[in-house]
Formats: sequence, structure tokens, C-alpha cells
Amino acid sequence: MFKWLLSASNKVKHGQGCRVIQFQNVTKTFGSRTAVNKVSFNIDKPQMVGIIGRSGAGKSTLLRMINRLTPATSGQILFNDRDILSLKGAMMRRWQRDCAMVFQQFNLVPRLDVVTNVMLGRLNGHGTLKSLFNVFGQDDVNAALANLDRLGIAQEATKRAEELSGGQQQRVAIARALMQDPHMVLADEPIASLDPMNAKIVMDALREIHERDNKIVICNLHTLDTARTYCDRVIGMRDGYIVFDGAPSALTTDVAREIYGADESFNEAATSTAIDAGSSGTTKSAGVVTPAAAAG
Ligand SMILES: Nc1ncnc2c1ncn2[C@@H]1O[C@H](COP(=O)(O)OP(=O)(O)OP(=O)(O)O)[C@@H](O)[C@H]1O
Ligand SMILES: [Mg+2]
Repeated sequence: MFKWLLSASNKVKHGQGCRVIQFQNVTKTFGSRTAVNKVSFNIDKPQMVGIIGRSGAGKSTLLRMINRLTPATSGQILFNDRDILSLKGAMMRRWQRDCAMVFQQFNLVPRLDVVTNVMLGRLNGHGTLKSLFNVFGQDDVNAALANLDRLGIAQEATKRAEELSGGQQQRVAIARALMQDPHMVLADEPIASLDPMNAKIVMDALREIHERDNKIVICNLHTLDTARTYCDRVIGMRDGYIVFDGAPSALTTDVAREIYGADESFNEAATSTAIDAGSSGTTKSAGVVTPAAAAG
């Protein structure tokens, strides 16, 4: 209910036809391999978008092109009509701060304490660890603690990052992303290394950022049920193409089979994040079973 009220208010706020992100014929090739193939789509209001597809479909490449971690080969990505792919120098770094990335492996500095890891979000990739202690002021500390508190882990602030569980580390990484005060959050498989309980906490946190801050969140996900539960919109990729773009309710088993390229043996239950102690014979990665693994 709240979700629909919120999406209605977003419409009022941003208006119909207000295009926030536009992909126009975006292609990325690595040698002879086309990872993303002439992809076009718009995100024209703050949405939580899930990108699904089997391993190698092009999900990470798509996400990484948005914040310029991977250069596109051709096409255009526009943000509020600004050409993102031609940004250089300080403008490009500014853009990278505006679209914060969250990674599967957290990318924290293990030996640094949690609060310092979070403050690194303010550095925007500049500075060296040596200069850290001169760079951060009390405002930064307060903002970091507030973000940690929002993620429910302020009590861990003085521990070294490596002392935390995976789920806690991912929450630290999200707090670090929030320090950038980004326009959007790009999360590449944020729960693929987590058990179901921590996966839920992390996805709840990303959803809360979307709802409370009215931000675009784009999330690469391996599991269908997570995409259905958390996302307003799901984009399905296969072999570099977008083969589905719609509401989670339209993501039927047949559609999922099309996206994952699996035959009749495709078992949707196998893409669940729920741990089933009785199930065996499928490839598990921290409770997450990929359709590719289940089908193959
Ligand atoms: N740096 C690279 N150099 C060469 N090929 C690459 C590179 N990055 C990705 N690719 C290739 O591009 C294709 C898409 O890769 P990508 O990592 O985007 O897929 P993905 O959908 O994120 O897969 P996964 O679910 O395994 O993370 C794959 O064939 C991959 O091997
Ligand atoms: Mg990937």
C-alpha cells in the first residue's frame, strides 16, 4: 500500500516524461565478445530496478558503464539529458560520486575501523590512506555515525572492518555509499555472498534508501524471488540483450525461463534465497542458487 502511495507521489514530484536515465543503443565489446548489445531503456522516475539474468548475461557490465568503471564502446547514456559517457576529469569524478556503487565483496579496507571505512565515501577515490587523518573532520565523523546508525550498526563503529560478519560489512559499504550523498545507488550482486537472513537485512536497507530518500536503486540480482519482493521493475538480460523489462508481476515462470535460457527442467524454486536444509544436488553459494547452476 505504502509502496503504491509512494510511487504515485513520485509521479507528481518528477512528472510524466521526466527522463532521469536514458540508455540509447549502448554497446560494450571485449575483443570479439559483445557483453552488452545495443541496449536502450529509460528510468524516468525514482525506482528500485532489479537486473536479472544468468552468469555472463552482461549485468555487471551494464551497471559499471553507468558510473564509468567500464567504458562503453558505443551508444549514449544520458542523465537528465547530460551525456554521461563524455564526462572527463573532475566532472567524471563528480558523476562517480553521484552514482555510488555497492559490490558483492564489500570492498572495505579490512584493517581500518568501521567509521573510517564509512568516511572513505567522502574521498571520492582521491587521497591516500596516509592523508586520511588530516582529511576528516568532526562533521565527517558525525555523518558517518549517523549513516551507520541508519543501517543499524553504529555500535560496531570502532571495530576493524575485518571483525564484522559479511552482512555487517555490506551494511558498512552501504553507509559508505550514503556518505557520497548520491543521486542513485548501483548495487552489483549485493547479497550474493550473504546468508538469507543477512541478505534480507541488506535488501531491506537498499529498499529503505529508495523509499525514504526517493533515490534510484539499481541492483543486479541472481535470484528471482528477491527481484520480485524488492523491485518496482525488473530488467531481464540474456546474452547482452534486454529480453524483459516490466513489473515483477509480469515475471512469470515462462518469462524467467526465457531470460535464463533454461529448458523445461528450469525450476524456479531453485532460484530462491531461502535455505532448504533438505535440498541437495544444486550448486549453492552462501544460500544463493543460480538458475544457471540449477539448470545446468
Ligand atoms: N574485463 C573484461 N574482459 C573481457 N571480457 C569481459 C570483461 N568483463 C566482462 N566480460 C565478458 O562480458 C560478458 C558479460 O560479463 P558480465 O560480468 O557483465 O556478466 P554478468 O551478467 O554480470 O555475470 P555474473 O552473473 O557472472 O556476474 C561475459 O562474457 C564476460 O566474460
Ligand atoms: Mg556480474
